[in-house]
Amino acid sequence: MSVSAPLLDAKVRYGRDGWLPLPHTLSDPDVRKLRHRVEGISREQRPEVVLEEGTSAVRALHGCHDFDEVCARLVRLPALVGLAEQLLGGPVYVYQFKVNMKQAHEGAAWPWHQDFAFWRHEDGMGSPDAVNIAIFLDDVTDENGPLEVIPGSQHAGIVEDPARRGGERSHDWRHHVSTKLEYVVPDDVAGRLAGTFGVRRLTGPAGTAVAFHPCIIHSSSNNLSAQRRCLLLITYNRVTNTPEHPVRPSFLVSRDSTPVVPVEADRL
Ligand code: SIN
Ligand code: MN
Repeated sequence: MSVSAPLLDAKVRYGRDGWLPLPHTLSDPDVRKLRHRVEGISREQRPEVVLEEGTSAVRALHGCHDFDEVCARLVRLPALVGLAEQLLGGPVYVYQFKVNMKQAHEGAAWPWHQDFAFWRHEDGMGSPDAVNIAIFLDDVTDENGPLEVIPGSQHAGIVEDPARRGGERSHDWRHHVSTKLEYVVPDDVAGRLAGTFGVRRLTGPAGTAVAFHPCIIHSSSNNLSAQRRCLLLITYNRVTNTPEHPVRPSFLVSRDSTPVVPVEADRL
């Protein structure tokens, strides 16, 4: 991982836009190392490996930092931990770790949603004092289902779906990781906000890293292209913000809130 620019205004920019391109990029050897691990884990049959509905294509991997040593080292890279601590203002732990594979031709969409809706309602997280860091393990282009964010939409707080108000909720965690998400932002609401704030597609070469806020409204489309779009996401949470009633599996909500101790060098 290399640092190419100072992080001077990172906090201000992140506060305003709800997302931030990181000056840190993962080196090609580190990207290759992670891809190798991710592809190996994808072949394992374990609850952390989730398939696309009705197919054998792997949709996502969860909690890999708890059982894979390269992923465990990744979450401890000083550049990532330092950034999370800077944005959140104190010591952090890894709340969630996932890899969204978005396989060529088969990777299915993520509808408009806010991560904090899941963490608040399902886990009892008190405030959005957490940050997602997304690392591109493939080149991400306009064609292979990039993450799309509505900059500034984090200021709206949790946007409830009026059609679902007072209705039954599924607390089955599989509905929190599939293309039919339990907590979504209705398309018309997202459309209105997008009309005001615009939509930003997060594209870039493999190794690119971006941070985004738990309340930012985001989505991504089906991958209709021949190129996989593998995105690794680490969520750091402030150690003072542990959830009140976590019941989902620990590979979705870490129970270990020990502050992350960075490794010495920014490489895997
Ligand atoms: C995606 O992988 O495109 C969606 C990621 C997310 O919603 O956190
Ligand atoms: Mn999300």
